[in-house]
Amino acid sequence: MTILITGGAGFIGSCLARRLLAEGDTVVVVDNLSTARRETVPEGAVFVDGDIGRPETLGKMPALRYDAVCHLAAQSSGAVSMEQPVYDVQTNALSTILLVRWCREQGIRRVLYASSMAVYGNPVGLPVRESSDAVPVSYYGVSKLMSEHVLRLASRDGLSTTALRMFNVYGPGQNLANLRQGMASIYLAYMLKGVPVPVTGSLERFRDFVYIEDVIDAWINVLRRDATSSDVYNIGSGMPVRVRDLLQLLLDASGLPSGYPVEEKVAPPGDQFGLFSDCGRADIELGWRAKTALADGLRRMVAWALKEPTAR
Ligand SMILES: NC(=O)c1ccc[n+]([C@@H]2O[C@H](COP(=O)([O-])OP(=O)(O)OC[C@H]3O[C@@H](n4cnc5c(N)ncnc54)[C@H](O)[C@@H]3O)[C@@H](O)[C@H]2O)c1
Repeated sequence: MTILITGGAGFIGSCLARRLLAEGDTVVVVDNLSTARRETVPEGAVFVDGDIGRPETLGKMPALRYDAVCHLAAQSSGAVSMEQPVYDVQTNALSTILLVRWCREQGIRRVLYASSMAVYGNPVGLPVRESSDAVPVSYYGVSKLMSEHVLRLASRDGLSTTALRMFNVYGPGQNLANLRQGMASIYLAYMLKGVPVPVTGSLERFRDFVYIEDVIDAWINVLRRDATSSDVYNIGSGMPVRVRDLLQLLLDASGLPSGYPVEEKVAPPGDQFGLFSDCGRADIELGWRAKTALADGLRRMVAWALKEPTAR
């Protein structure tokens, strides 16, 4: 297959690109390197430096017959979206409108989208299902939900679309220099620097952590199909983990003492208190479920980070 990956220099996009290249696919990456480095684009992928929120960017793509687009380029921090909502909407929602229009012009039939658990906001019932109310509490969540709707509209004209609502993805390759996005990566980055870990929000908040390779399995599973029965799937572990427990697991994996200093700070606007996924739909319709235990995944992440020069 020939695949265009937007955001293919980022954490999830570069892992997806690497897996596709290993499976013999042709991969084109478009990324503006705003939160990634040129070196994280896997060798073998064609790279285009461009801003996906600008109409002219897609005109620069190599003229190939693309089988699918995986749209992962995004401003991926909820906190940043509250500080710069216009930038967030341009990157995260306008880009999807531009992409859908380009797909129509190019005759591309398939789009996979990196949606997020942020669309659920602070849900009333847990775990959240795809049918749960989607009431985002950040502009980031609003943009992700808007993109889902844009794709739903485009599917009426024959585009085959699937949105993967990923929960907290973690693992080797996560950008430890980006201290605005990714709970596990932010906390680990401070631990590796040997300084107190600032935690913005309560230690009793909870999240659903899903390992990167499990997430890539889900993307590949969906990509190898012409269409999916549903247009949106939760991709999580289905397990709630308190921030307090995540910190302890990270300390254990790093060989640091339990008394390591943690500074609780005020939660930024748009922060979600706690949620976790019901991934029954992905299990039944795709035969996908997360396999990696959090302690194992964190150990692999720490082992990788200790060898990663940008980690300290
Ligand atoms: N990491 C998670 O836990 C998680 C959870 C749910 C959804 N997502 C979504 O998955 C996608 C990938 O997330 P990630 O963790 O790899 O984040 P990331 O920040 O590592 O990757 C995003 C990539 O998009 C690029 N980018 C940003 N703005 C761009 C623009 N205007 N034009 C072109 N490229 C641009 C960045 O340089 C980066 O390489 C994002 O859409 C994110 O919102 C991530």
